[in-house]
Amino acid sequence: MAESGGDPGAAWHQRVLAEITRWPWLRRLNDQVAEAVDPVYDRFRANPAVELMHGGRWLGHSLHPALSDLPIGFWSAVLLLDMAGQDVPPEGSRLDPASTLNAAGIAAAAATAATGVADWTVSDAEDRRVGLFHGLLNGAGTTLQGMSLAARLAGRRRTGQVLGAAGLSVTVAAAYVGGHLVQGRAVMVNRVATHTGPQRWVKAVAEEDLPDGAVTGVEVEGRRVMLHRSDGEVHAIDDVCSHAGALLHRGEIDDCTVVCPLHFSVFDLRDGHIVRGPAHHPQPVLPARVRNGWIEVRGSAPAPRSRRASNS
Ligand code: FES
Repeated sequence: MAESGGDPGAAWHQRVLAEITRWPWLRRLNDQVAEAVDPVYDRFRANPAVELMHGGRWLGHSLHPALSDLPIGFWSAVLLLDMAGQDVPPEGSRLDPASTLNAAGIAAAAATAATGVADWTVSDAEDRRVGLFHGLLNGAGTTLQGMSLAARLAGRRRTGQVLGAAGLSVTVAAAYVGGHLVQGRAVMVNRVATHTGPQRWVKAVAEEDLPDGAVTGVEVEGRRVMLHRSDGEVHAIDDVCSHAGALLHRGEIDDCTVVCPLHFSVFDLRDGHIVRGPAHHPQPVLPARVRNGWIEVRGSAPAPRSRRASNS
């Protein structure tokens, strides 16, 4: 995705984040991690547990950003307790409230990391390198929190406080990079959220060019549309995959579903619903009809529909 360099106020962070993706060691590490993780993901990608880690069709958006609030919340609470001097164990207990919250944050960080790795496997190119850097920072932040917890349990409160504050600082930096992934690079963002046109019936393709069983991708008034004819019925959905923007007409068709060629989400061509993730937003369906030897389409709201395309 192209970076905008026109905003002087944003230039510094764009330069920094662009530089990160060029670091040779990060590129090498990215390749090594991909070599280890990708085959495992490929083996289990159809597993519902893996799909749930993405958030998938059940939750409607990615699980990872929601979970990531938990460790930050727990560790921020620890910082407040430290600052208020409330990190002392109650009478008769070895475990102080700060240590308990610190441990809860570490547990939440582990769950967050698992969902992050799942999302990372279905990202590409620069997004992966930025994502890996984000993960490394989070790993460092969590390690510091682990050291902080160990120090607190050993009775070294001051060391535990310093390590906890340092860990939280690193985690906040990681969160900043994560925010860039979502808002700056549109990772795990619905890529068709704003696709609505055309506002009227528009000729898409000559009827003879879409025989039964055929699939094609066309552009109508700036919107990319995938067309498929099955048992004489024409189905039209947005051609841009809601997950990461691959063109669906290049995917395999199977029993009125299309398999995205990039990360293998499966969409039903009749109503656009997700049969299998990692996509978490359905494909918008466009009404289609045959008129005077042409297949025509018009826009629709970007939401799942149960009605079938009309051939009248
Ligand atoms: S682009 Fe990722 S599943 Fe389609």
